[in-house]
Amino acid sequence: MRGAPVGPSGSVPVAARDTVLEVSEVAVQFGGVRAIDDASLVVGRRELVGVIGPNGAGKTTLFDVISGFRRPTRGRVELDGTDVTGRSVAWRARHGVRRTFQRQQVFGALTVRENLLAAVEGDRMRGGVVVDLLGLSSRRSGASRQARRVDDVLELCDLGALRDVPAGSLPIGAARMLELGRALVHEPRVLLLDEPTSGLGEAEAAAMSTALRAYLADHECGVVLVEHDVGFVMDHCDRIVVLNLGAVLAAGPPDVIRADPAVRAAYLG
Ligand SMILES: Nc1ncnc2c1ncn2[C@@H]1O[C@H](COP(=O)(O)OP(=O)(O)OP(=O)(O)O)[C@@H](O)[C@H]1O
Ligand SMILES: [Mg+2]
Repeated sequence: MRGAPVGPSGSVPVAARDTVLEVSEVAVQFGGVRAIDDASLVVGRRELVGVIGPNGAGKTTLFDVISGFRRPTRGRVELDGTDVTGRSVAWRARHGVRRTFQRQQVFGALTVRENLLAAVEGDRMRGGVVVDLLGLSSRRSGASRQARRVDDVLELCDLGALRDVPAGSLPIGAARMLELGRALVHEPRVLLLDEPTSGLGEAEAAAMSTALRAYLADHECGVVLVEHDVGFVMDHCDRIVVLNLGAVLAAGPPDVIRADPAVRAAYLG
């Protein structure tokens, strides 16, 4: 919602939110293991939601369900109010669902800029038929639009100075930022980040949060990030969902989660 009132931490108040993603009563079973057991989640536009929970709580599996890599045994996934539970990964990606993975996925031999171009190239190829019908000039303008998006992301992620450095030789902070950038060039409406600050120091993690907020200021996107770093989630997310044994143990703003007796007992210790 462009021009929505923004709270002191850059967060959008609940009343101003529109739902961009809704996961309802999802279950995933692997043989005898209930990886997700009746989990629900709502994400608003321009909202940053953190998902925390111990190892094996079902966080990555939940991302697999939202992005279409895994069909749930039960439950629904809605994107902008449309049921997409039966849609493929490719369909959801085309409609704005993007994710990063727990293990890094960049091309080490390509430069930072080439990595971003390679990511955005997929979008251009998909537009190929229409672009061909419209002729060379549109093809050129399509290419320059993609190049502009890459430049925007270089700036947003503070990677401009490293644009010509091979991704394989980046320090970890910049490498994680590049991963985020590869998702952002697609201008996602739902962005899923699996442990984006893993291995980062506090300042590098804060820089990532700054980049995400800058993106959300200009795009009607909802971000969900899985984190082991509870401090980061408490400091930077609008809302937190605590998963435990595949179920939602608690959900709410950071101060509510911090004070929740069930969360303290099960997770925060
Ligand atoms: N492909 C699979 N086959 C069988 N069991 C699986 C599979 N993927 C995940 N599981 C099980 O499902 C449960 C949830 O796993 P998941 O990877 O979603 O947890 P997580 O919260 O992401 O954990 P971590 O914090 O370690 O990344 C675990 O018990 C895991 O062993
Ligand atoms: Mg995981």
